[in-house]
Order: sequence, then structure tokens, then C-alpha cells
Amino acid sequence: MSKAKVGILISGRGSNMASLIEASKKPDSPYEVVIVASNVTDAPGLEFARAEGIATWAQSHVGMKRADFDELVDAELRAAGVEYVALAGYMRLLSPGFVQKWAGRMINIHPSLLPLYKGLDTHQRALDAGDTRHGCSVHIVTEALDDGEIVAQAEVPVLPGDDVHTLAARVLVEEHKLYPAALAKLVRGK
Ligand code: GRF
Repeated sequence: MSKAKVGILISGRGSNMASLIEASKKPDSPYEVVIVASNVTDAPGLEFARAEGIATWAQSHVGMKRADFDELVDAELRAAGVEYVALAGYMRLLSPGFVQKWAGRMINIHPSLLPLYKGLDTHQRALDAGDTRHGCSVHIVTEALDDGEIVAQAEVPVLPGDDVHTLAARVLVEEHKLYPAALAKLVRGK
């Protein structure tokens, strides 16, 4: 069975990217990662990808129009034969044209139980609200930020004495399990 070709976009440490790559190595994985691209030329995650023998592409977006930069990214993804895009800590708003080109085939992982806490500082906002449960979501990317159909979610408890670091760490453990499972589900079409 040929595997679906996935491109991952990152801006930082890339721990979710690493979880996708690790899972892709299993024989029964329905996808393979063919390129990791970044808008941050020294994003730490790029090193991990290179060490895994995965093609990387990085260019700063600074000074470019959003749509022009996204066209460059799109060209790299297509040249690599990408069929599905996974955003993994990609800290860029996407142009409508880019989102439309990958409609239904691009997912993102967000550290909250969407529709709660779209945007930044999700862990602090959950703590401030006194929530007893928190978590992460994988969703289809649409033009609205952290919107779109939810593919999968995982919950964690918020424990007494939690701060933003302990809570983020607990959520991240779940992210690393959830994202590969959600990508496999999308690729398999179920
Ligand atoms: C993760 O918390 C993810 O949910 C959010 O950004 C963070 C990226 O972390 N979108 P990493 O780069 O995958 O380690």
C-alpha cells in the first residue's frame, strides 16, 4: 500500500512534528513525512527532521506579503508531492488562497479543548477560568483561526497546584499521542 505524503509546517521546537515523524516509521502507518518546512530558518525542529533524513525547506517570511510567502511554501509542498499538510506549532496566519488550496487536507493541533480558548495563552486562560479539565484538539484548518471541524480531542485534568508549566507539560504528552492518531484518521478517511 502506498503511503500518503505529508508535509509539516513548523516555526519552533517541533515536538509535535517529531511525534508525527516517529509514528510514521511504524510499518502500519498510513502516511510518510516527505518535507518539513519553516518560516524560521533556525527553528530547532529542522535539525531533528534533517537527522531523520527528511527534506527541509526554510525561509523567513519577514518583508514578504503573506500571500506571496504562502505561494512559496505551497510550491515547495507540491514539488515534494505533498497530499496532506500538518501544522505543528506553525506561528503564522495563513492566507485564504493557501487555505483553499489545501481545504480538507490540512490539520492543526491546538492546546485547548476547542471551541474553548482559540489563539494564544490557552493554559493560562484555562487556569484563570478555574477549569477542572483542559486538553488539546486537532482540527481541519479553515480561514478562521483555530476553527474548522474537530478531528480528535484529548482531555487532561487540571490539578490543584497546577501552574502554566505543569499544565502545559501534561497537555503536551497528550498532544504527542493525539496528533499522529488524528493524522492517520484523516488520511484513512475515517
Ligand atoms: C503545541 O502546544 C501546539 O499545540 C501548538 O504549539 C505548540 C507547538 O509545540 N500549536 P511544538 O513546536 O510542536 O513542540
